[in-house]
Amino acid sequence: MNVLVLGAGGREHALAWKIAQSPLLGQLFIAPGNAGTEQLGHNINLRIDDFEAIAIFVRQKNITVLIVGPEDPLVKGLSDFMKSQDDFGKLVIVGPSQNGALLEGSKEFAKKFMIRHHIPTAGYASFTTDNIKSGKDFLNSLSPPYVLKADGLAAGKGVLIIDELNEAEDELEAMLNGKFGEASKKVVIEKFLSGIELSVFVITDGKNYHLLPEAKDYKRIGEGDTGLNTGGMGAISPVPFANSEFMKKVVDRIVEPTIKGLQQDKIDYQGFIFFGLIKVKDDPFVIEYNVRMGDPESEVVIPRIQSDLLDLFQAMGTEEFVKKSVEFKNEAATTVMLVSGGYPESYEKGKLISGLNDVKDSILFHAGSRMNDGQVLTNGGRVIAITSLHESWKKALDQSYYSAQLLDFEGVYYRKDIGFDL
Ligand code: AMP
Ligand code: GLY
Repeated sequence: MNVLVLGAGGREHALAWKIAQSPLLGQLFIAPGNAGTEQLGHNINLRIDDFEAIAIFVRQKNITVLIVGPEDPLVKGLSDFMKSQDDFGKLVIVGPSQNGALLEGSKEFAKKFMIRHHIPTAGYASFTTDNIKSGKDFLNSLSPPYVLKADGLAAGKGVLIIDELNEAEDELEAMLNGKFGEASKKVVIEKFLSGIELSVFVITDGKNYHLLPEAKDYKRIGEGDTGLNTGGMGAISPVPFANSEFMKKVVDRIVEPTIKGLQQDKIDYQGFIFFGLIKVKDDPFVIEYNVRMGDPESEVVIPRIQSDLLDLFQAMGTEEFVKKSVEFKNEAATTVMLVSGGYPESYEKGKLISGLNDVKDSILFHAGSRMNDGQVLTNGGRVIAITSLHESWKKALDQSYYSAQLLDFEGVYYRKDIGFDL
């Protein structure tokens, strides 16, 4: 079976790493990939928004499983485009239809979906320039902090949490006037929920699903969860507070109603669902849906999966899918992200990464790297995720930190306090 993975980050390296271990694999291609994926398969110079070029490649290489890493091409309709090709009847696409991708691509769509299917989430209302005044009235009816979300995709920057009412009113106006371009022409205002966050993942064929290990991500750049939001600075799986009682609530109140909701709404969905959750007292609420795996959550979730993911993907869309099971390893996994100095604001690329061969007891998932004349250079804000596995998550974390100090590049930074709140 030949497989194509789309994307270039740590998530895609982790997916490729897992797929490369499957006895079912023929050839593995990653587009565009990074210096890490290059060691597992063939990096291909394809743009992930060039659907025609991807289709030509799928045909040429007889790809049977196409795994879409990031949300962007899904929101733009990649899955529908591939399904519309007459000769792709047997192609398995891991990633939902454009309609399904709206769960991530439109905050309002996701909110309406949750309300319709009685899935616990924060109360909300949405506004456009036509009703700014009502938006301000709505803000006045809430207590601080105020949560303002651009409806559309805004590269992870579209959510503002503001303490002062005046400032929230000004930001509402700025957003509606294009602060995040088209994405904030509509703004969702939500009630603030106070609690601790976690991420839960499933793989689904739209009717049945398999639960994957859960994870906790550390989004802020600074220690103690301070400073700017990033794509994620580290992660841990399992999540100590996600005990079986809590996870039962997650499954009963959130996962199952979501899968049933997809069917009721006739949404074609095949792929991952990432539930961004918050635990308020003892109860889970949905903060957001994502229609892909998380990054860096993948770098802890995927190494904890014992079962063959390719076998599972192959079964999607057939009667076999429901009969499969996903076994987890007993070990905990931690990952620590090395980032470029300056990230998440401006940073430099092209710095030589040293020490890669000295790391023995961790797995290095490349997030932003490229090969140049046999040397590995930085090529992004997030550079390398250092994953370790151990019976105890604290020991796994010690191992990730031990490995971290073996690696170096100019300006390297990482958080030293992953797991501090557990
Ligand atoms: P989102 O892009 O919707 O995941 O929002 C980004 C981050 O903002 C989340 O990870 C939360 O930390 C925070 N957030 C979003 N919505 C809420 C809410 N209703 N209450 C509290 N925090 C929130
Ligand atoms: N780490 C959060 C995300 O992938 O959206």
